[in-house]
Amino acid sequence: MKDGYRFVGFQYELTGALYSLGRIPRCKTAMLKHLKPGDRVLVAGVGHGTEAVEASRLGAHVTAVDISETMLKHFRRRIERDRPPVPIDVVHDDIFNVREEASYDMVIANFFLNVFSKTRVKEVADHLGTLVRPGGRFVVGEFVLPEPGWMGVIQRINWYIAISFYSLTTEAVFHPVWDYPALVRGAGCEIEEIEYFTVCGVRLYWSILGRKKAEAA
Ligand SMILES: C[S@@+](CC[C@H](N)C(=O)[O-])C[C@H]1O[C@@H](n2cnc3c(N)ncnc32)[C@H](O)[C@@H]1O
Repeated sequence: MKDGYRFVGFQYELTGALYSLGRIPRCKTAMLKHLKPGDRVLVAGVGHGTEAVEASRLGAHVTAVDISETMLKHFRRRIERDRPPVPIDVVHDDIFNVREEASYDMVIANFFLNVFSKTRVKEVADHLGTLVRPGGRFVVGEFVLPEPGWMGVIQRINWYIAISFYSLTTEAVFHPVWDYPALVRGAGCEIEEIEYFTVCGVRLYWSILGRKKAEAA
């Protein structure tokens, strides 16, 4: 299996935290407040697993999937260090091989959708949407879609610095910021909440909470 993070995976978590002045780690865990003990959570492209460990602390049963053995090595180290109370199911695989339709109370894609090309990202988001149970939640933590005016200039610079580095060093595709709320809606979820993470008053990251319609009784 391809490991696009072989050479840069070690620094991923720390660099993200420093680059965003601590906003990215907060963005990753923002929507966990909606979890209940016993909930089933899927974390797609888990990386070093900040939100996976936190979800376990909240009593959730977490399945964490990543295609990169390097990222999972760091995630496993973290599990050993932090000893989350509910065991986490760590899966080394392509997310498309997870096919438990309508099974998860919450599916989380933090800074995951941004690695894909325009056509692929829609397929990935739609696939993740199929894994959410009716009434369940789809959470996307990401770089914000640039707004008009000077704020959009800063938002674009913030994104292009990050994607320039990762498109040169990993298999991430160089592209503009995707419209993540549209992708969440396209995956069959209504937007229920958006939380922004700002630096000096500029919105740079957001956590988007989508909710899949509950089945009619
Ligand atoms: C930009 S990193 C984000 C990591 C983590 N979610 C975070 O926020 O720190 C993207 C992650 O998605 C993983 N990934 C990319 N394509 C994947 C796929 N098709 N299936 C599973 N994981 C994938 C990469 O290995 C990487 O760990």
